[in-house]
Amino acid sequence: MKLVFATNNPHKLRELQQLLGDKIQLLSLTDIGCDEEVPENQETLEGNAAEKAFFIFEKFGFNCFADDTGLEVEALNGEPGVYSARYAGEDKNAEANMGKVLDQLNGKENRKARFRTVISLVIDGEETQFEGIVDGKILEEKQGEAGFGYDPVFQPDGFSESFAEMEAGQKNRISHRGRAVEKLIAYLKNLNKSI
Ligand code: IMP
Repeated sequence: MKLVFATNNPHKLRELQQLLGDKIQLLSLTDIGCDEEVPENQETLEGNAAEKAFFIFEKFGFNCFADDTGLEVEALNGEPGVYSARYAGEDKNAEANMGKVLDQLNGKENRKARFRTVISLVIDGEETQFEGIVDGKILEEKQGEAGFGYDPVFQPDGFSESFAEMEAGQKNRISHRGRAVEKLIAYLKNLNKSI
């Protein structure tokens, strides 16, 4: 079975291919000749993930899945949420994004936050969604160098390190994306018992 993962991020692709085994062949956007920007114009993670997956299914005719992730901060009414990548501006600068979150939370007691990933899977035009959440809090200042995005300011519940102080394997086991992917894989394996 061939399945497109609507990404050009080689790390995400390789990690998922390893988890899926060789009965499902993952294809990237480049593999299917999609060199245009995949639209994500919706106001929710669910909407964006679905828009991306349906775009590929309808335009290229491949079964496909797409993901969308946001950091949701309780005291900021769920912001930056679907706008996480460009919270501080269109140049998608992680340092500026973290700075903005820290500024907005300045003096606020409630620092609860969560990462949420939504995966939309479209098979023969039928959509199924999978959600992964990791609860935690926003630290007072950045800690650690690993990872990307908001990792240095996010500490998952039950841990004393930020995501940026964890080994990649440890982060993946408990992360929002890891949890959503786990559900996707269980679903795909059930769909195709021969995997
Ligand atoms: P995407 O939907 O995976 O592209 O994620 C959107 C934005 O959310 C990214 O640009 C990052 O700012 C943030 N983000 C997503 N996943 C993570 C993560 O695992 N750690 C830190 N930030 C993340």
